[in-house]
Amino acid sequence: ADQPLVLGIETSCDETGVGIVRGHTLLANTIASSVEQHARFGGVVPEVASRAHLEAMTPAVERALAEAGVGFGDIDAIAVTAGPGLAGALLVGVAAAKAYSLGLGVPLYGVNHLAAHVAVDQLEHGPLPKPCVALLVSGGHSSLLLVPDVAHDVISLGSTVDDAAGEAFDKVARVLGLPFPGGPHIDREAREGSGAAVAFPRGKYDDGTLDFSFSGLKTAVARWVEARRAAGESIHVPDVAASFQEAVVDVLTRKAIDACRRYDVRDLLIGGGVAANSRLRALARERCQAAGIRLRVPRPGLCTDNGAMVAALGADLVSGGAAPSALTIPADSSLPI
Ligand code: KG4
Ligand code: ZN
Repeated sequence: ADQPLVLGIETSCDETGVGIVRGHTLLANTIASSVEQHARFGGVVPEVASRAHLEAMTPAVERALAEAGVGFGDIDAIAVTAGPGLAGALLVGVAAAKAYSLGLGVPLYGVNHLAAHVAVDQLEHGPLPKPCVALLVSGGHSSLLLVPDVAHDVISLGSTVDDAAGEAFDKVARVLGLPFPGGPHIDREAREGSGAAVAFPRGKYDDGTLDFSFSGLKTAVARWVEARRAAGESIHVPDVAASFQEAVVDVLTRKAIDACRRYDVRDLLIGGGVAANSRLRALARERCQAAGIRLRVPRPGLCTDNGAMVAALGADLVSGGAAPSALTIPADSSLPI
């Protein structure tokens, strides 16, 4: 047991995640979500999320320790998401992590949430190829990253200029009368529809950048649906869902592969909640194969926000001899990569 035992805490959005790893071996990954409390608002309410984190934190840590079969005394380091995310939500995790670090006399590592989404794949598929390109798509972010070394060197290549991909899924789902969070519902509806039924716009498709834009698409879908409804026509939800989804995953996969080509990288990783999307996975597989790029996608439970991803990155920092964070580190809602 010369590998470090790391406890990771994630509270950047609505998931209270506590994970425990030994090196890259996953021992526990407990998640308490406040998603149902936000459902009636159609989006995450920051104050509600912070309160839920506060209540869920201690039980989640205890459950994770029990699941891993270890005690507080076995922990070698604490890792925590320091940002980016919701300020009040981050603060709960950072404060808890500082308390555990101080109380247990073990080092604290504040980590970047986006880098943690990349690092988590090592728990399932082993060491990351250096370099790789990562496409991170969730309710809060849509980014393309060049990753020479996930613990020390992650470079942003592009990101969304407006809505995140998951946010677009959630907003379009709302227009279609599907529950929040809408991504999984659109995914399911789309299986019964045709992605070619409606030609929705693909934002920034040929603009030469590695940035994304989804708000025009979201508005186009809303206008299309409203126009049909105003005319008293019924809409075929599966076709609209599939056509919207096709527009999103077409742009995501096109730009991800473009990033690999530009930087001469042979390995693409896709993470974040939207990586659970079945059409994104299928189209990415198809296009990567055609481009000679190897594709890594963690299983859905590791794609959505969780504590194990934070612990995984923490383990890399410990193993790499990185300097721990000061006990005064802030929660930084806009922490840059
Ligand atoms: O990573 P995540 O759990 O939390 C954030 O950091 O946002 O991602 C949640 C997002 C939501 O917008 C949700 O609708 C979307 O991921 N999502 C999906 C699917 N499953 C979750 N979007 C499309 N297809 C899915 N199957
Ligand atoms: Zn996330």
